[in-house]
Amino acid sequence: MFTIMNINLYLRLDYIYFTVKFMENINIPLSEITAINEIISTHQNGIGPLIPILQDIQDKFNYISEEALEIISEKLQQPIAHIYGVASFHYQFKLKMKGTEITQAEFSVKICSGSPCHVRGANKIIERIEKCLGIKPGEVTKDHMFSFEMVDCLGACGISPAIAINDKIHGKLTPESTEILLSKIKHQAEIIDIKKRAAEHKNNE
Ligand code: FES
Repeated sequence: MFTIMNINLYLRLDYIYFTVKFMENINIPLSEITAINEIISTHQNGIGPLIPILQDIQDKFNYISEEALEIISEKLQQPIAHIYGVASFHYQFKLKMKGTEITQAEFSVKICSGSPCHVRGANKIIERIEKCLGIKPGEVTKDHMFSFEMVDCLGACGISPAIAINDKIHGKLTPESTEILLSKIKHQAEIIDIKKRAAEHKNNE
């Protein structure tokens, strides 16, 4: 016969089982999981907790990992697609998806794939960026100078098609102006690279 105590026990076991199954899929250090959980607890009962949680996680780690999105989804009981949608909509959030090193790049190039940008030729801009950087969306150049991501909207629909480079918006782009812009940034990247090599050389002396 079921009693309230039995039901509570089954619910508890169920909860532990699903928590263990959930944690099996999280491949980040325990300290990071603890920090993320603390941030979530701080905002969980507030109004509209998602943005403050994402902001605090980004402030702490300088990026938001896929695992963090999964933990938020589980804790807030909201679909992962919604959490990802909000995080990728706000271009100031840096997403670090499994298998990528997006945050290690010196220059983060984000292109908007929203409808206004799409109808004004974002696809041609994407092709030109791929050609100039030699990487596709979701990839990072081998020297970690450039990352390339697609986001839902940069909040610059009035000047579409738009891209953000390290969160600075560049709008009304054509493939040609994109190439000129990227060649300037590549020049900056070369200078940074030379300085880094010089510093490494000095440290090894
Ligand atoms: S749709 Fe491209 S910036 Fe908003």
